[in-house]
Amino acid sequence: MPESLRSSRIIGTGHYVPTRVLTNFDLEKMVDTTDEWIVTRTGIRERRIAAENEACSDLSLAACKEAVAMAGLDPKDIDGIIIGTISGDMQFPATAAFVQDRLGAINAAALDLSAACSGFIYAVNMAHAMIVSGQMERVLVVGAEVLTKFVDWSDRSTCVLFGDAAGAALLEACPRGEGILATHMKSDGALAELLCLPGGGSRHPLTPNTFADRTRFIKMKGDGVFKWAVRAMVDATHTVLEQAGYSLSDVAVVIPHQANIRIIDAVAERLEIPRERVVVNLDRYGNTSSATIPVAYDEVVRAKKLKPGDLVLFTGFGGGFTWGSVLLKHAISL
Ligand SMILES: CC(C)(COP(=O)(O)OP(=O)(O)OC[C@H]1O[C@@H](n2cnc3c(N)ncnc32)[C@H](O)[C@@H]1OP(=O)(O)O)[C@@H](O)C(=O)NCCC(=O)NCCS
Repeated sequence: MPESLRSSRIIGTGHYVPTRVLTNFDLEKMVDTTDEWIVTRTGIRERRIAAENEACSDLSLAACKEAVAMAGLDPKDIDGIIIGTISGDMQFPATAAFVQDRLGAINAAALDLSAACSGFIYAVNMAHAMIVSGQMERVLVVGAEVLTKFVDWSDRSTCVLFGDAAGAALLEACPRGEGILATHMKSDGALAELLCLPGGGSRHPLTPNTFADRTRFIKMKGDGVFKWAVRAMVDATHTVLEQAGYSLSDVAVVIPHQANIRIIDAVAERLEIPRERVVVNLDRYGNTSSATIPVAYDEVVRAKKLKPGDLVLFTGFGGGFTWGSVLLKHAISL
């Protein structure tokens, strides 16, 4: 198929969340907070916490197995694995390399992509571009995080927000006009300090100081993030709809990054989209960063709420700042 006639579609999805549940009431016993504060300010009621011996590749592998099974493929048929994550197993190698080995995807290239909470949207963009270029036929895309291992459990302004999860989507080549219709990615590195984990990289290598000054944990300026998040997701949504020549009334469901119910409400209000078409699951999982969108999509798919041809819009934002959207025609029939 010539490049100009190619697109990609999602033919399988999967997700995994750890078994341990941490409720807001549990958090009341850990920091100076209340269930009422957390629910009214964020919409979150509980989140999942990875076990001590559970790492990012463990969560990813479980999600990937489900996606590959749904697609009915042999892992040998996968050409690439891209994991959007900022909480990988190790500094290197890539978490995708561990998944490639344990999945038996012996013909796949493997890489991680760092775009914080936009990791899945960025990874879908990359996988789509590789398929459209003709370089690959099938790419497994994952959003997976174990951020609870990088959260300061004494900082009530961040520790109540995050949870652990992984979501996967298997992309395969298809004719243009089907599957992914438009993609958009943007960034503004001038906003890096709004949301970052400063310690542990080459700027501030891990030393006893990074433990003492707590720079080895996630730092966030919540109000700044809030304002940018709303603007970014609204802009990215309009951009992909314009690219593809559709309007929001054509879209069956919008799946926004699940960071805060007030951010989602503000986006829905500005887009003038009815709330029943906006997918929300953050009450059960909190902000699982790059995993929020693929986990929510998999839940919608498995609940059979979509039929082939329905338009689905992903939109998200994250540290960097990074943001973006994907508009696609749903292609899975269960
Ligand atoms: C973090 C966030 C929930 C805070 O909500 P807010 O309404 O802006 O609250 P404020 O920052 O004004 O804080 C109000 C007060 O609550 C306090 N507070 C913060 N966390 C608290 C908690 N868990 N429990 C109780 N009180 C808390 C603050 O210390 C502050 O107290 P002060 O007025 O005495 O200083 C909100 O800013 C947010 O969601 N931002 C986006 C964060 C995000 O999405 N990050 C991930 C991006 S991918």
